[in-house]
Amino acid sequence: MTARDPQRIRSTRLAERVMTAEEAAAFIRPGDNVGMSGFTGSGYPKAVPAALVARIQEAQARGESFTVGVWTGASTAPELDGALAAVGGIDLRMPYQSDPVTRAKINAGELDYLDLHLSHVAQMVWEGFFGHLDVAVIEVAGITASGELIPSSSVGNNKTWIDVADRVILEVNSWQPIAFEGMHDIYYGTALPPNRRPIQITSPNDRIGVPYLRCPPEKVVAVVETDAPDRNAPFKPVDDTSERIAGHVLDFLSHEVRQGRLPATLLPLQSGVGNIANAVLAELDRGPFRPLTAYTEVIQDGMLALLASGTLASISATAFSLSEEGVDDLRANIQDYRDRIILRPQEISNHPEVIRRLGCLAMNGIIEADIYGNVNSTHVMGTRIQNGIGGSGDFARNAYISMFLTPSTAAGGAISCIVPMVSHVDHTEHDVHVVVTEHGVADLRGLAPRRRAQRIIDSCAHPDYRSALLDYVERALAGGGGHHTPHLLGEALSWHDRYERTGSMHAR
Ligand code: COA
Repeated sequence: MTARDPQRIRSTRLAERVMTAEEAAAFIRPGDNVGMSGFTGSGYPKAVPAALVARIQEAQARGESFTVGVWTGASTAPELDGALAAVGGIDLRMPYQSDPVTRAKINAGELDYLDLHLSHVAQMVWEGFFGHLDVAVIEVAGITASGELIPSSSVGNNKTWIDVADRVILEVNSWQPIAFEGMHDIYYGTALPPNRRPIQITSPNDRIGVPYLRCPPEKVVAVVETDAPDRNAPFKPVDDTSERIAGHVLDFLSHEVRQGRLPATLLPLQSGVGNIANAVLAELDRGPFRPLTAYTEVIQDGMLALLASGTLASISATAFSLSEEGVDDLRANIQDYRDRIILRPQEISNHPEVIRRLGCLAMNGIIEADIYGNVNSTHVMGTRIQNGIGGSGDFARNAYISMFLTPSTAAGGAISCIVPMVSHVDHTEHDVHVVVTEHGVADLRGLAPRRRAQRIIDSCAHPDYRSALLDYVERALAGGGGHHTPHLLGEALSWHDRYERTGSMHAR
């Protein structure tokens, strides 16, 4: 069969491997580990996962079990994660996901989930902790005449999957702009110790690699043509709470500039996923700081808007994560944006060495923080996974300033996001510099634990929970169980326990 689109599949050798998604999915066998492309709903394979789901259902109809391990860059979409999880086709999922069907299966104990720092994945794969990677299924925007792969809207772990997999299935998606060619920077210099060399990025827009993914052609068992959009989830309209949080972040950054701790052009921004992050970006566009740069993980709509206005000079990331309007903007203005955007493998976009050197300003969302500054980003009531740590740890531990942003309450006020003790720890007090809610900013730097508690309660807690938090600290101090980080151990998690029993953290 010959390729229908010679502009996209320019290699005659690989054009000979074009086949249907169903034929390609036959290369995936029960028990295989499958490395899929995909990061925050972009650049994931669109056709082979659906064909794999059909294959799994056929096997199940014959009374046979058919599960696979699914490895990705980060989250994908309902037609990949959701569809495979719904038919019970996943036995292990890693390193990040946010699909509700998969989340329910994980929390029901029906599939194993490894929630990993995203910069660590490649190393752990080379070390063999997850077993062998049998198949890689990678979406690309095209294939050059010499067989190099033009990456699509995310890079994630694609280089690693292609390097270590036995067999490679390519999906060539003509929906992705072909103008992506040249935008990526794929670094082929990483190694395990003692052979590591410095990562030579000293500015967010430094290029240290090549624009293409390399794959030995003999590994490519199938090429599938698709023409389907990324997930492109909408953002919620900016609400009053997000706007107030964004305003506090801007006031805090202005204060840091006045103190001489930040230049007027700030330092490279890292902005997490979600609506609050998007609101902060919008606020930055109205603020005085420019030109800014970003060394971050994902490019949301707000980042594109900053590029368009000239507030942002350049962005380094590993993926886009856009709404439909964001995609329209990208497609309409790609010639203007493409020289100012670099997409890299996630081991480089999130590399601790680079983040520390550049001095990133990290801003991430959380589930809850405690009065001493420990942060839970992942677990609801300490046991149920929400999404995963993603890149938040890569950035928080190594950022110049590590900020965590959250509304002060959740579930309509029944949950306080500032609690006596977090029910799960992702970021310890040592990695958390600043906590921001709609009520204010708690700058924890230079403060001993008891002073931190006072600052967080006064500046960040919702007024309805402030007196209960103060009462907790005062009784913990009076109880004499330790004056460095005072706690009442029998009560420290009682707020969570009360919520589980009564549906509210408020004492009645
Ligand atoms: N207790 C229980 N549930 C809570 C909660 C708390 N303290 N705080 C938030 N939630 C729930 C919300 O109610 C909401 O639930 P719903 O989806 O059923 O409505 C959900 O968590 C998401 O909260 P939301 O307020 O919409 O915030 P968000 O979209 O900003 O997401 C995180 C917050 C923590 C889930 C998200 O930032 C995340 O996954 N972070 C970890 C990964 C990360 O930081 N990635 C970026 C690194 S580059």
